[in-house]
Amino acid sequence: MTGPSRATPAAAAELLDPLFALPATVALAALPAECRTLLVGGALRDQLLGRPPRDFDAVVAGGGPAAARALGERFGARVIELGGDRFAAYRVVTPDFHIDLWDRGETSLEDDLRRRDFTVNSLALQLADRRLLDLHGGLEDLRHRSLRATSERSFSEDPLRVLRLARFSVELAGFRAEPATLELARAAAPELGRVAAERVREELEALVSAPGSAVGIDLLFDLALYPALWRGEPAPAPPRPELVDRLERLERRAAELETERGEPAVDRAAAVQAILFGALPQSAERLRDAHRKRLLSSRRARAIEALLGRRRLPATEPERRWLLHRSGELWTTVVAYLGSAVDDGDWRAALGPLLRLTATEAEAIFTPPPLLDGHQIAELLDIGPGPRLGELAGGLRRAQIEGRVTTREEAIAWLHQAAES
Ligand code: CTP
Repeated sequence: MTGPSRATPAAAAELLDPLFALPATVALAALPAECRTLLVGGALRDQLLGRPPRDFDAVVAGGGPAAARALGERFGARVIELGGDRFAAYRVVTPDFHIDLWDRGETSLEDDLRRRDFTVNSLALQLADRRLLDLHGGLEDLRHRSLRATSERSFSEDPLRVLRLARFSVELAGFRAEPATLELARAAAPELGRVAAERVREELEALVSAPGSAVGIDLLFDLALYPALWRGEPAPAPPRPELVDRLERLERRAAELETERGEPAVDRAAAVQAILFGALPQSAERLRDAHRKRLLSSRRARAIEALLGRRRLPATEPERRWLLHRSGELWTTVVAYLGSAVDDGDWRAALGPLLRLTATEAEAIFTPPPLLDGHQIAELLDIGPGPRLGELAGGLRRAQIEGRVTTREEAIAWLHQAAES
C-alpha cells in the first residue's frame, strides 16, 4: 500500500489478485456458491503490505463441515475441528499452510467483521466476484500503519488482543497503536488473567520469537503488562530504557550471527525471555512460577534457566571451549544473550575467537570422543564405581574439552595426578 489512491477497495482488490494464483485461494474459491466464501484476516493484510501470506482464514455462510471436508480431500490434509461457542470452525492442515474456516451460520457478515480485533484484520474479500469489503476503514489504517481496535469492545471481548497488539507492532514494521486503541488496551490489560494460559503462552511465544521484539516489549511497559505478567502481580518495573536497549542489542547480535556470519539461528524466544526474567528480583523463582502457571513450556523454561545461569562472555580459551560445549546446539543463543549485555567493542573482541573455535574445532568441542571411558578409568586407578569415579571422569572430560588434555597418554597422566591430589 503506497499512495492515497490505493486506499479504495477497488484499487486494493487489484493488489489482491496474486492471491488467486495460490492453491489455498483456488480451493476456497471452488467451494459451492451457497457458502458465499470470503477470505479474511491476515492473508489480505499481508498481501496488501507486500508480505507473502502464511496462513489463510476464510468465512462461509453455512455448509462449514462439508466445505472443510472438501478442502481436506483436495489437499489430502488433516481437518481439525476447532469448535468454539460462537461459530463452528475447522482447521485444514497441509504441510505448507493452514486454512482456518469459520462457519458464521446465523451471524451477519457485518457482525462477524465487527467482532474482529483490529481494522487492518477486518477486511474481507468475496471470492466469487473478487470484491473487497472494507467496513471499518482497514485500508486507510493500513496506509497509515495504524493499529486501531475495530470496536470499543474489542479488548474487553477478548483480552488476549492486548498481546496481539504488541505482536503486530513488532511483526508489521512501522505499525503503531493509535492513541485511543492504546487506552482501550491499557484498560483491558488486567483482564488478561481470565484468558486461558495456553492462549497467552502461544501469543507471548509469538511475540518474543519475532525478530525485533523490543518494540513490542516496550509497548508492554505502556500497558503495565511487563513486569506484571512475568511477576504474577503488579510490581515496580526495572529501568525501561536499559531493558529495551539490551533487547535491541540482542537483536543486532542475533542478526549478525545469523545473517552476516551464517551461523545457526538464535532462539530469540529463550534469549528475550531470559532478559525479561533476568531483570526481575528473584528471577529463578519468577521463572518457576511462570512455568507452573503454564505460561512457558518445560522446554522453554529449561532453556531460559540455562541462559540465566550464564554470567558473561568468556575471556580465555578454556572458558570459551567449555561454554560452547555446554551450550551445544544453543551456542549462538547463549553467545547472543551474553553479547547483549556488553558494548559493541567487547562483543567484537569476544566474538572473533569464539567463531574461530566453532569453525576449526567443532568436533573436538561439541562431540569429542572420550579419551578413556569409565571402565578404563576405574581399572587404571583401581577404584570402584561411585562418586569419586564420577568426579574424576567429569574432570578429565572437562580438561579434554578445554584443550588441556589431548591424547590418551596425557589423559592417563592427568588422572594419576588428579587421583593423588
Ligand atoms: N482474530 C480476532 N481476534 C483474535 C484472533 C483472531 O479478531 N484474538 C481475527 C482477526 O480478524 C484475524 C483473524 O481472526 O485477522 C485470523 O486470526 P489469526 O490467524 O490468529 O491472525 P492473523 O491476523 O491471520 O495474523 P497472523 O497469522 O500473523 O497471526
